[in-house]
Amino acid sequence: MKNSLTSPHLQHETFRLYPPVTGIPKYTAQTPQPLTISSRKHLIPPHTMVIPQVLALHTHPAHWTPDPLEWRPSRWISPHSPREHDRQPTTKLDHETLKEPQRGTFLPWSDGAHVCPGRKFSQVKFVAVMAALFRTHRVRPVLRAGETEARARERVRGVVEDSAVRMTLQMKDPGRVRVRWVLKEGVGRMSGGSNDPC
Ligand code: HEM
Repeated sequence: MKNSLTSPHLQHETFRLYPPVTGIPKYTAQTPQPLTISSRKHLIPPHTMVIPQVLALHTHPAHWTPDPLEWRPSRWISPHSPREHDRQPTTKLDHETLKEPQRGTFLPWSDGAHVCPGRKFSQVKFVAVMAALFRTHRVRPVLRAGETEARARERVRGVVEDSAVRMTLQMKDPGRVRVRWVLKEGVGRMSGGSNDPC
């Protein structure tokens, strides 16, 4: 993976294909609500539930061509450099700012009046957890007897794809794969304890 990718790119691309909330239920109240879709006007009757399908939106070829089903974090790298924004870069992230998706095409935290108030918190937490896990280690699947690394990766992929909505989107059986944390080359062992994650 290219060095220019950072945790926010990984999170956006992961939440695009695996949004924790796959559908966001909305209800109309006593009055009909107008809704415009592709310049066509619709009138949603009172007391009606509408559930925008986030996963369908996030994989719609109109917005995510040419490879809507591919996990490709680099699609989130902004083509604009910080100089175009007329400011000096101070951190790596400033150089590789996140691409802003067209409004209404990316809704893992919803949008509008009820946008998730925990959005920033979850983003910061994601970055912190990823940094802590991957700063010194890489993750590898634990091979079954006679299994090749490539076959094990396929097995991991299968388990990830075998996800279902249980309130939020979850893998049904992540326990089918065991992984081990491998110290990166050239990184010393951490002081103050064992590096063995088991
Ligand atoms: C990966 C993490 C998270 C995702 C993907 C997520 C996603 C969402 C979504 C899709 C909604 C529905 C908004 C709507 O009805 O239009 C929502 C609402 C909400 N979320 Fe989150 N959320 C996350 C984390 C959090 C965290 C960490 C908190 C609190 C610390 C939080 C608090 C809330 C609250 C209170 C609402 C209701 C907002 C309202 O109805 O006005 N969320 N979230």
